[in-house]
Amino acid sequence: MDKSDTDIEDKKVEAVPTDEVAPGARLLPRITIQAFCEHSQTAQLIETAVHDRRMSKVALTTHNGGIEAAIETYRSNPTPNLIIIEAHSDAEQLPHDLERLAEVCDASTRVVVLGHVNDIVLYRELIRFGVSDYVVLPTAPADIVTSITDLFVADGAAPIGRTIGFVAAKGGAGSSTVCHNVAWAIAQDIRQDVLIVDLDLAFGTAGLNFNQDPPHGLADAVFATEKIDAVMLDRLMSKAAANISLLAAPVLLDRTYDLEERAFEQIVEITQKTVPMVMLDIPHAWTGWVRHILTTIDEIVIVAEPDLANLRNAKSLVDALKALRPADSEPHLVVNRAGMPKRPEISPGEFAASIECRLTGQIGFDPATFGTAANNGQMLAEVSASHKANEAFRAVGRAVSGRAKVEAMGKANSLKLPGGLTKLLKIG
Ligand SMILES: Nc1ncnc2c1ncn2[C@@H]1O[C@H](COP(=O)(O)OP(=O)(O)O)[C@@H](O)[C@H]1O
Ligand SMILES: [Mg+2]
Repeated sequence: MDKSDTDIEDKKVEAVPTDEVAPGARLLPRITIQAFCEHSQTAQLIETAVHDRRMSKVALTTHNGGIEAAIETYRSNPTPNLIIIEAHSDAEQLPHDLERLAEVCDASTRVVVLGHVNDIVLYRELIRFGVSDYVVLPTAPADIVTSITDLFVADGAAPIGRTIGFVAAKGGAGSSTVCHNVAWAIAQDIRQDVLIVDLDLAFGTAGLNFNQDPPHGLADAVFATEKIDAVMLDRLMSKAAANISLLAAPVLLDRTYDLEERAFEQIVEITQKTVPMVMLDIPHAWTGWVRHILTTIDEIVIVAEPDLANLRNAKSLVDALKALRPADSEPHLVVNRAGMPKRPEISPGEFAASIECRLTGQIGFDPATFGTAANNGQMLAEVSASHKANEAFRAVGRAVSGRAKVEAMGKANSLKLPGGLTKLLKIG
């Protein structure tokens, strides 16, 4: 979605970056927060809270208007990780308003209500209805910070990040290209913070594709002798574009990369707690660690060219993955580089049917545009905003980020409720 279609009256609040974070500090992950305030004092209170060092990674926007403004906004805009609502309605009206908000929100979004009534019955009612917290105004910025950290970093808080891996059925099919462009689409379209982890340690292209010469973040993390933690990983990330961070591959052949099966386990686990979308650019290989990563992540995208060798490999991959992760969602298929002149090809539909996989995207062969993007170190949308492939990247982004259903059903009519607010359905 283009920024121009939004009717949000944005006030972006810059968090103050801090280097000095005490060890073990409960630093909030890179979440997006949107606050809807009835009074300017409330907006100021939240803006002050965001200057707390624990909030240094958080992206906050404050908006005028309470719950009605929020409902209006999310009819046509993606929802953030957390919505803060200043509520004026009374104990009877508030649950009804929240129900209407739930109808336009994404399932994973959480809601904190700031209210003016100090009423334990209302508090219990709202919590029972799925609101994550109810904070009584007036309050101190520190209380807001505590409420949010309790939600996202307390022991036992669900990890906020979704892990999505991209693999090619055959080298060169374009899995890295698709991974980076889908990351771009998610950052732009769904406006979530994305981390790209370039697991192709020897030959990865993420740095090149984003025209960066970043430090070898991922190697430093995987070969670290001390125990890695979120603060250390954060230092190893570099910025690839707006809302996109990168854990770059060393791309050096001074050593080999025969890693242990669980070499990346901890890194993936930590990143999942700090970034909402973790995109893993996985090399075309079948090592112990590749297989292990593929068994542990949330979503897998197989990128294949529509020829016989890709078909055979994709089939083997899908069979192996279904056996390794029987309870998980099945992989997505993206057919890339389709329509290469003079090449006999299998139709994408037939390809997907014969490997029993959902066809989430099809992208045509266009060496001029993709070549220009690669040579310039730009994403396809930067080279050609109207290119058809961008729609495919957005569709894959929505599918793997779990946003597809909301979009497909039409947000206003959907009955999909925010994580916390799901309980409403059972009650109402
Ligand atoms: N749809 C496409 N049309 C033309 N060239 C493409 C397309 N998709 C990717 N490419 C090019 O194919 C090459 C291989 O892509 P890459 O993403 O590195 O593959 P993989 O990671 O699967 O090995 C790159 O030069 C890339 O620019
Ligand atoms: Mg690659």
